Amino acid sequence: MAADKWVYMVTAQTPTNIAVIKYWGKRDEVRILPVNDSISVTLDPDHLCTVTTVAVSPAFDRDRMWLNGKEISLSGSRYQNCLREIRGRAGDVEDKEKGVKIEKKEWEKLHLHIASHNNFPTAAGLASSAAGFACLVFSLAKLMNVNEDPSRLSAIARQGSGSACRSLFGGFVKWEMGSKEDGSDSVAVQLADEKHWNELVIIIAVVSSRQKETSSTSGMRESVETSLLLQHRAKEVVPKRILQMEEAIKNRDLASFTQLSCADSNQFHAVCLDTSPPIFYMNDTSHRIISLVEKWNRSEGTPQVAYTFDAGPNAVLIARNRKVAVQLLQGLLYYFPPKSDTDMKSYVVGDNSILKEAG
Ligand code: ADP
Ligand code: DP6
Ligand code: CO
Repeated sequence: MAADKWVYMVTAQTPTNIAVIKYWGKRDEVRILPVNDSISVTLDPDHLCTVTTVAVSPAFDRDRMWLNGKEISLSGSRYQNCLREIRGRAGDVEDKEKGVKIEKKEWEKLHLHIASHNNFPTAAGLASSAAGFACLVFSLAKLMNVNEDPSRLSAIARQGSGSACRSLFGGFVKWEMGSKEDGSDSVAVQLADEKHWNELVIIIAVVSSRQKETSSTSGMRESVETSLLLQHRAKEVVPKRILQMEEAIKNRDLASFTQLSCADSNQFHAVCLDTSPPIFYMNDTSHRIISLVEKWNRSEGTPQVAYTFDAGPNAVLIARNRKVAVQLLQGLLYYFPPKSDTDMKSYVVGDNSILKEAG
């Protein structure tokens, strides 16, 4: 095979994660360092996920990337930081079967082609940036034989999108804000693996798959600049909630888990309203879903379902178990009938339609 004819590639699949104690606000915009710790649950990798293929060849004359089939620019600092950090840790690669041998020092000169697909709406408040950058970093690390543990990789993914650092682990994950200026201790750690509380079922109700008007990045920047509630939340509220949420997860205490997750989602959206000009991520349908779940939990005496909404109108509902999830799904279908023919197994686009279970 001629020296410039080979292409060596790796494909990876990474799930998204949904925060139950939210990250909203940076203390360092460049390194992506948050103003508070956050905790999330990573979804089942077969449901909402990103699949990314990274390829290297001497025939490529520059780095290029396609997102959902469309070429995007890699010139932004987030992509550049991830590429630089991974290239700096690249090792020797040898694949005898494919006849590929790449020495560590060659990675600086070789160019990459990257193709990434999200199987769920991009930039619609379902954490596409989390799955996307986690998958980018993970696949590049595999391609370049980078020997780093997931926490170290999480610090690289963090520089692509903050929430991405939490997608390097399954189960329940904490992103520790850290205190060092260089961000080296701002990493994700696993609190409990996916088996720990596996009777929980997550249902995602897609209220709208439209791209949001205010990206998470600019939304949180405006909140940091203008919201006093954000300052109070980061200093006084979240540190206590983090400890309580860790305890709730450890003890599989759904009452506490629900109370904390719903309160934190509502406070995050209150911060968005407290931002000038105010940011509206939820809509009427989101509010109706909250009312439905609140009423149901109250009528049952003990909470059955937790809700949380990211920076978008779509509901993430965490049900106590499969039986509750089925009842919840029936309730959602009754009160929010899908407008088009719905294949419950697959993802449905359109107002008021319901997405599948993930969990
Ligand atoms: P979301 O709520 O979906 O995370 P954000 O506003 O945080 O929305 O981020 C959306 C941005 O994340 C996209 O515009 C794109 O720049 C980036 N992104 C999304 N998916 C991917 C991916 N698979 N690979 C790389 N970057 C991605
Ligand atoms: C509401 O991680 O998307 O989903 O770091 O600027 O890329 P950048 O923002 P991003 O923000 C996520 C905000 C959130 C809450 C969370 O995931 O913790
Ligand atoms: Co995001």
